[in-house]
Amino acid sequence: MNTYDTIVIGGGAVGCSCAWLMGQSGQSVLLLERGRLGGEASGAAAGMLGAQLEVKSPGPFFQLCLESRGLYPQWAEALLAETGIDIELVQNGILQVAADERAARHLRTQLTWQQEHGGSGEWWPQEQLAAQEPLLAPAVGALYLPEDGNISAPRLARAVGEAARRRAQVREGAEVLRIDPDGSGVRVTTQEETFRAQQAVIASGAWAHALLSTLHVRFPIRPVKGQLLAVRPRRGRLTHTVHTESVYLVPKRDGTVVVGATEEHGAGFDRELTARGLATLLTGLAEVAPGLSDAVFERAWTGLRPGSSTGAPMIGRLPHQPQVIVAVGHFRNGVLLSPITARIVAALAAQQPLPELWRAFAPESVLPQEPQTRR
Ligand code: GLY
Repeated sequence: MNTYDTIVIGGGAVGCSCAWLMGQSGQSVLLLERGRLGGEASGAAAGMLGAQLEVKSPGPFFQLCLESRGLYPQWAEALLAETGIDIELVQNGILQVAADERAARHLRTQLTWQQEHGGSGEWWPQEQLAAQEPLLAPAVGALYLPEDGNISAPRLARAVGEAARRRAQVREGAEVLRIDPDGSGVRVTTQEETFRAQQAVIASGAWAHALLSTLHVRFPIRPVKGQLLAVRPRRGRLTHTVHTESVYLVPKRDGTVVVGATEEHGAGFDRELTARGLATLLTGLAEVAPGLSDAVFERAWTGLRPGSSTGAPMIGRLPHQPQVIVAVGHFRNGVLLSPITARIVAALAAQQPLPELWRAFAPESVLPQEPQTRR
């Protein structure tokens, strides 16, 4: 039986990033992916780094998002140095556009608490917004978040996949059926083989629920489908990522604009594009950016987010099965949080003490205080 220091289960942005960092530190790492590396939500994402955009209240989750966003410049450089792949980091801010006074009040309140807790931002009145982004429909104004940004998700998926291949053994098409912790480590069984390691990391995105259930961990993760499309403007350009209550528009360095995303709960693992989903995106695009109504349609696709009930991830060792580390439930923020998640997992794997902020996402902090993680 092949033996490793660590087996990572899941080859998305989170799993590949974990394998890369742990492999860099000299551990022997095996990465098992049921499909192909980066083939699911990570590569499908719009790639926003919306630390301030996505968080609705102050607290550890907001701090974790800010910390991970702050890692991105260095992360992008390290990936470029390791793989030669540029993830096309764009750091020119996100505009949260207010269509009416109610939305403007809400965004001003958001700005106040975010500034009090380490975020930054400024209010752009109607004229400033119109001057900066003439393709947009008239609006009351916008909250400008200068430190949020975006990357190319397909490039990120390729880069972390390549980085993982360089520092770990990778098996694609290897679906993990069981994890069996025992006194001295863990056995991980796929359809074909059983592997042994000191520890396993569960980072299997929307597919994590089944494995967590076999370990009696009650942290529900459900696939939440997102449909997206890309258009290529014929004239003019969007300068900033634009977010509204109906859609977001993410201008990419290749000149396209990614329009996202539906959030469909209860559709299971269905990945079909639907008439309703595409209509939602195209209607939103036409309303928010009439200047893009003659943009050329390029393509549409879907991704399955790993939806957790709180919207925040659980990252840490299982209290009663410490041979298993979980990095699950990243929901809308897997791309944003992959660098910080990899750091946390690498620190756990190296038995290093964690800062208090990181411990807020540990299973003992997140799971209900019942003995249900006991086998
Ligand atoms: N973070 C954007 C989304 O999940 O749609």
